Amino acid sequence: MDNERREPGETSAELARALEAPAPHRPQFAHPAEAEFAAFLDFYRIKWEYEPKSFPLRWRDGRVTEMFTPDFYLPEQDLYVELTTMKQSLVTRKNRKVRRLRQLYPNINVVLLYRKDYHELLSRFGYGSIDITSLRPDQIERILLSPAEIQTRVAELGRQISEDYADRSLILVGVLKGITFFLADLARCITRPLAIDYLQLSRELDQGVYISRDLDLDIRGQHVLLVEDIVNTGMTMDFVLRSLREREPASLEVCALLDKAERRLAPVPVKYVGFTIPNEFVVGYGLDYRELYRNLPFICVLRKEVYESNGNGPLLKKPAGLVSPSARG
Ligand code: IMP
Ligand code: MG
Repeated sequence: MDNERREPGETSAELARALEAPAPHRPQFAHPAEAEFAAFLDFYRIKWEYEPKSFPLRWRDGRVTEMFTPDFYLPEQDLYVELTTMKQSLVTRKNRKVRRLRQLYPNINVVLLYRKDYHELLSRFGYGSIDITSLRPDQIERILLSPAEIQTRVAELGRQISEDYADRSLILVGVLKGITFFLADLARCITRPLAIDYLQLSRELDQGVYISRDLDLDIRGQHVLLVEDIVNTGMTMDFVLRSLREREPASLEVCALLDKAERRLAPVPVKYVGFTIPNEFVVGYGLDYRELYRNLPFICVLRKEVYESNGNGPLLKKPAGLVSPSARG
């Protein structure tokens, strides 16, 4: 981003917060807008490299006479980004360079990016439903896992499971409802014949946790992989495993996307762990707070106000007159 001035008052609270966060790998930026864009990417956990590569654009007598060094490279998206402002003289020059780059190197993906389009970029990278959930970026305390990080890890788990079950078919058992997204993605990364079934748990004051919706399939003699969104104390999983073991499957293993290991009370054998996370309440990618935020494509910690402000969101109430147990999961 050469010689451009940042427009005053551009920095939103969200970016200001991100800028405060320690960023050990921060290089010397040539322009404040670049530092701001890096902070924006850091907040959304989008990996970046600063000016990693220069592309020769013109030559004379075998010597390079013009080079173009895009400001950023985003490896997860395989995309070069050149930042620009509204200043027309600069935009025209940059447009020309970007066009020439595309001509000479047709396999290189490059965009010229205005500041107003930063958020639009997010929807291209799988962050789209921030808008749908009516969650404002400033209500997000911290993104723990980005869509790209989740998908990469889920693919690895799928590969590992496919290898381990190379000569077997299996039944994936998911505990509703938090599991819907993870199970759908994981199942598509497993290259073995498999069946899918679900359990749902409920809790009532007098009888504790019980299965309110049981499996359809008979799992006796089958290879069962219990798939869970998150293991916290392990109490829920311990209960589910006991119930599944009684049905005498040929084998029973556990795959959990998230593991809050420091909270563990019941020792549960989790063979496949997506990510070990700190002891913080997280939402997104299936995980809810009072039935909301399951459709966030990333996993994040929300700011305290979001959990405290009861009257604010479209929190779901139980239908009146129905004595239903409080659903879990
Ligand atoms: P555990 O019985 O303490 O291991 O709790 C496991 C269950 O609690 C999970 O299946 C989730 O439904 C819920 N849970 C635990 N931690 C979180 C969280 O951080 N966000 C959303 N749900 C959670
Ligand atoms: Mg530059």
